[in-house]
Amino acid sequence: MLQDRFILPLTHKGYTTKTHPMNIKNVCCIGAGYVGGPTMAVIAQKCPHIKVTVVDINKSRIDAWNNNDLTQLPVFEPGLDDIIKNTRGKNLFFSTEVDKAIEEAEMIFISVNTPTKTYGKGKGMAADLKYIELCSRQIAKVSKNNKIVVEKSTLPVRTASAIKSILDNTGNDVKFQILSNPEFLAEGTAVKDLLYPDRVLIGGDNSMEGQTAIQALVDIYSNWVPKELILTTNVWSSELSKLTANAFLAQRVSSINAMSEICEKTGAEVSEVARAIGMDSRIGSKFLKASVGFGGSCFQKDILNLVYIAKSYGLDEVANYWEQVVIMNEHQKQRFSDNIVQTLYNTVSGKKITFLGWAFKKDTNDTRESAAIKVADNLLNEQAQIVVYDPKVSEKRIYEDLDDLKTRPAEENRKLLKVTNDSYEACKDSHGIAILTEWEEFTTYNWEKIYKQMQKPAFIFDGRGLLNRKQLESIGFMYYNIGSGTE
Ligand code: NAD
Ligand code: UGA
Repeated sequence: MLQDRFILPLTHKGYTTKTHPMNIKNVCCIGAGYVGGPTMAVIAQKCPHIKVTVVDINKSRIDAWNNNDLTQLPVFEPGLDDIIKNTRGKNLFFSTEVDKAIEEAEMIFISVNTPTKTYGKGKGMAADLKYIELCSRQIAKVSKNNKIVVEKSTLPVRTASAIKSILDNTGNDVKFQILSNPEFLAEGTAVKDLLYPDRVLIGGDNSMEGQTAIQALVDIYSNWVPKELILTTNVWSSELSKLTANAFLAQRVSSINAMSEICEKTGAEVSEVARAIGMDSRIGSKFLKASVGFGGSCFQKDILNLVYIAKSYGLDEVANYWEQVVIMNEHQKQRFSDNIVQTLYNTVSGKKITFLGWAFKKDTNDTRESAAIKVADNLLNEQAQIVVYDPKVSEKRIYEDLDDLKTRPAEENRKLLKVTNDSYEACKDSHGIAILTEWEEFTTYNWEKIYKQMQKPAFIFDGRGLLNRKQLESIGFMYYNIGSGTE
């Protein structure tokens, strides 16, 4: 399998910085997803002298990027619609003509998906690199002049050597330079993260050609990112830094979630504990919000990928250490649903349970690996009648997420779970409300009105620590919050 082939002996060399400038005028990006779309839109806005073409094999996704109605863009991100409005059709283009875009571009970003493998060796753990390999073969086939290929996707360390091998051995005598330029944006804040990154990381070869390629990409970012925030490293450090960053961030969430369970048993309050330790400048205050569990397309897949790499090198202790972060996350989702069943008198069969939120976090329409999916699946196993309201996620997406689990027939998912656009209707006659996503709008609801229309006792299970306990309890709700102990 491709991921295994990347694990090659590592050589390390020092760096030189003397290069001949290259003036990039035409870039393309393969993959018009959550990373490709916003990233290229920001490059287009900040570099009006560069033509940026984003290509994808998914025609409906490209059509959505080209939709005149900017509320229909395939990716919801605050501020993205304005950037698309200002750049699309000027120097930003979305197209399905992959070959043409590759041929014209001097620099090609690969931004395709790299999901966890669902088959064969490394199933459930290794990164599936078939889309990366397909892109590499296509670039090799189509290219007629020298190109810089930039890994934007998150990849196992040493992937660049496999890409290089494909490009060098299947191409038309064209010279390629491979750079690693991992993306650190978070969904929901993608535009802000791209405009004001903490740092930009570029890994490249130590040869003169490699350094020239690095400089070409540095020159693009320098149009808006201060030079001191642009780090250049060797390719392997860059690839591994991306997996490391996600593993460290996810580890913080699992660590505070582990503490949330102790808080519930002891009467401690996790938000107070988080605040107290977060003020220690060595620890810092971010990523200490206890929750129903982290979701999103990357944390779990990237940690499992790291675990697989560690195992491939025979580093079992390292592998087990990181795997525990994912195990803790699964436990957090499971105990949230177990608590709902237990609190509702040990049965939810036939009871209406309302889900407020389905996305893996606020301000995104992305639901990949959202905690809501697992919590719903657990409750459906107990024959609950679930009604879901999410301001940005479609009914179609919600059913697809459940069907993908293959726990029960699709008809049964549609029978047991309903989706509505009306949050008050979702809460009417409900036995319990579960907050799965921290959408701001939930804090603005008329909770007295909701209380009056619910079954009594009326329960709220706040998986995000979003609502105000005092206010809800004074209305009459029974309020459960992740990580809040009972004295
Ligand atoms: P995505 O699934 O939203 O988009 C990937 C796109 O690539 C899809 O539209 C797919 O049709 C297209 N594609 C696949 N193979 C193709 C091919 N051969 N030719 C043309 N198009 C092809 O994925 P994403 O969330 O944008 O993530 C992309 C990569 O970036 C992943 O490696 C991910 O780990 C990484 N990443 C994601 C985020 C994030 O917040 N989503 C942040 C940082 C890094
Ligand atoms: C994460 C990283 O933050 C990005 O830097 C990275 O580029 C990206 O993964 C990626 O590689 O895809 P993202 O998954 O979009 O970004 O969202 P995060 O804000 O990191 O949140 C991930 C999950 O952790 C969410 O479900 C969120 O609710 C949860 N979380 C986060 C908590 O439960 N508590 C926290 O304190 C922070």
